[in-house]
Amino acid sequence: KKVVLAYSGGLDTSAIIPWLKENYEGCEIIAFAADVGQGEEELIGLREKALKTGASECYIVDLKEEFIADYVFPTITTGAVYEGEYLLGTSMARPIIAKAQVEVALRVGADALCHGCTGKGNDQVRFEGTFAALAPELTVIAPWREWDMVSREDLLDYLAARDIQTTASATKIYSRDANAWHISHEGGELEDPWCEPSKGVWTLTTDPEDAPNQAERVMLSFEEGKLVAVNDEKLSPYQAVMKLNAIAGAHGVGRIDIVENRLVGMKSRGCYETPGGTVIVAAYKALETLVLDKAALKYREQIGLEFSHVMYDGRWFTPLNEALLAGAASFAKKVTGDIVVKLYKGQATVVQRRSPNSLYSEDFATFGADDVYDQSHAEGFIRLYSLSSRISTLNQKARALK
Ligand code: ARG
Ligand code: SIN
Repeated sequence: KKVVLAYSGGLDTSAIIPWLKENYEGCEIIAFAADVGQGEEELIGLREKALKTGASECYIVDLKEEFIADYVFPTITTGAVYEGEYLLGTSMARPIIAKAQVEVALRVGADALCHGCTGKGNDQVRFEGTFAALAPELTVIAPWREWDMVSREDLLDYLAARDIQTTASATKIYSRDANAWHISHEGGELEDPWCEPSKGVWTLTTDPEDAPNQAERVMLSFEEGKLVAVNDEKLSPYQAVMKLNAIAGAHGVGRIDIVENRLVGMKSRGCYETPGGTVIVAAYKALETLVLDKAALKYREQIGLEFSHVMYDGRWFTPLNEALLAGAASFAKKVTGDIVVKLYKGQATVVQRRSPNSLYSEDFATFGADDVYDQSHAEGFIRLYSLSSRISTLNQKARALK
């Protein structure tokens, strides 16, 4: 037996390695880690750690550019925002990580895939949904649904009993998940929705109360739906996000504190930081308002609502996902232009917009005098537009008189 484990180097996946060996006779464990921009600290020494804990090999795959270019940017074109607030940072990373894990498994001829997600969350569904779509022949092992350990103490005791060193501590307050797009914080005092998050929750953004008193403006340039430059500097998708994370994070932009519906039925409370992403999404939507007509924008909004659930629910590798992305890509062809966003104490406000595809016409829209629009035409339009209401009421009145 050969198992490829989605490995983070944290306490859970460290305990999984010896546990697999004990519970799956003679199995070889290959650790797999994806670099989706979670930061150096999580990756340094990872290979050594995996091997010391008992893995026979450790593959680390750099997916930073692909993550932003092929998962995040397409999702932005759909306008998806889960339950009106969550920018889907963890959700978007799961299919690309799971896909790369499957690729490693197929390359090394593994017969099983393993992950460290709990049996209560969304992530297990996202991982296994991808496994099912790409490699249904492989066995899935989800230790959290099998073993009887329940706490960090249990895991630490388990490792100590086997003389396996860890740097993990018994007290890790929050469950966090980070990548280039965002960081999530759950658990600890956040499990009580009446409890305001303490300052220590937040890691990526300045507290808006401590942010600079001076506003900062940043210009984002899009070409056919893709962010291509920040303040006139051409950047790759990943670089652009990282640059905006730094700029917007300093102004405390991109914090949310929400209660959300998990796919498995329960509600959970999470705090999320998406500094660059918040600016990008605001800018993208502002540019859409210039270039999409009413019917197109309405339909794009419907795509966004549908897609937010596809993404959250782990349905990336499905025909519905493909169709929605194709629809969004069609609208995105028009999304070219520049947007200036003002950052100030946690707020990101669009203050300037321009596009070669703009449908905006000052000549038509002006409240001053114009010579392109004949207001008398509106009368006939409204008469026909409201004709069915008129007929309905006239008929009612006629019947009442009978
Ligand atoms: N609730 C968010 C989501 O489902 C964040 C999940 C964070 N995952 C984690 N393993 N800490 O997308
Ligand atoms: C987990 O249970 O592994 C994290 C939370 C989630 O997946 O929603």
